Amino acid sequence: MKLLDGKKTSNDIKDEIAAEVAKMKANGEKVPHLAAVIVGNDGASLTYVGSKVRACERVGFESTLVQLPNTTSEVELLDKIEELNSNDDIDGFIIQLPLPPQIDTQKVLMAVDPSKDVDGFHPENFGKMALDMSTFIPATPFGILELLDRYGVETQGKHTVVIGRSHIVGRPMSILMGRKGFPGNSTVTLTHSHTKNITQITSQADIIITALGRPKFLKAEMIKDDAVVIDVGITRVPDENAKRGYVITGDVDFENVSKKTSYITPVPGGVGPMTIAMLLKNTLLARERRR
Ligand code: GUN
Repeated sequence: MKLLDGKKTSNDIKDEIAAEVAKMKANGEKVPHLAAVIVGNDGASLTYVGSKVRACERVGFESTLVQLPNTTSEVELLDKIEELNSNDDIDGFIIQLPLPPQIDTQKVLMAVDPSKDVDGFHPENFGKMALDMSTFIPATPFGILELLDRYGVETQGKHTVVIGRSHIVGRPMSILMGRKGFPGNSTVTLTHSHTKNITQITSQADIIITALGRPKFLKAEMIKDDAVVIDVGITRVPDENAKRGYVITGDVDFENVSKKTSYITPVPGGVGPMTIAMLLKNTLLARERRR
């Protein structure tokens, strides 16, 4: 079993980005500027956004955090988005999800200027991704592709099973693994809550990507020997013994599953840090496109 070490790989990527930023600075160019909008005070969302802002500092980007109250109306958020769209200093921005129920998420994501949509959630960018056109690939799927690439994990001709069809991870991942090229050229099965006999499907998989948010869902009996397992789950499970009162738990029963795998991502330290590194990469790309 070999660990796909997202912590180390994301640090390598951040070092590469920092070197690019240092070159920009030395040439007197503007450095990339990422803005993040958060509505409300969900603990997990605040933690993620905080990590994104800190990562900007680490690589030399400028960053702006826009914190709006939980009672923010859809119109107020749309106004803020318009401001960010037309602010020439901002190269890219994200709206942290989920949003409070009074706000229509789809409407909000469609209001983001596609050239600044570093999350890759706008339908124009999602469509381009599906058509193999140059675009912003959503950060979590992009991070998984990058891990597979850097560790030289073979995907061509393999059977990839994706568990979960979210717009942020499962759906795009299923498209990307089946596209022409590397990583890609996989035969993909996308499974979800209505899938019957899931064990029959996962036990035939060469590569399993779980993005369910159900702690320890994937058990050793559900996979074949030498499978590659990518765990996107990051659920906070209450634990009295933990310092913060919870432990971050993946979708995979790591202790038992890892004994059977060829490669596996840990939680934490797997896909999570890769997501942040790839958001930075998309922001660098956004700056380069605007140059
Ligand atoms: N919420 C959970 N994951 C993400 C993400 O990748 N981007 C944004 N904007 N919100 C999220």
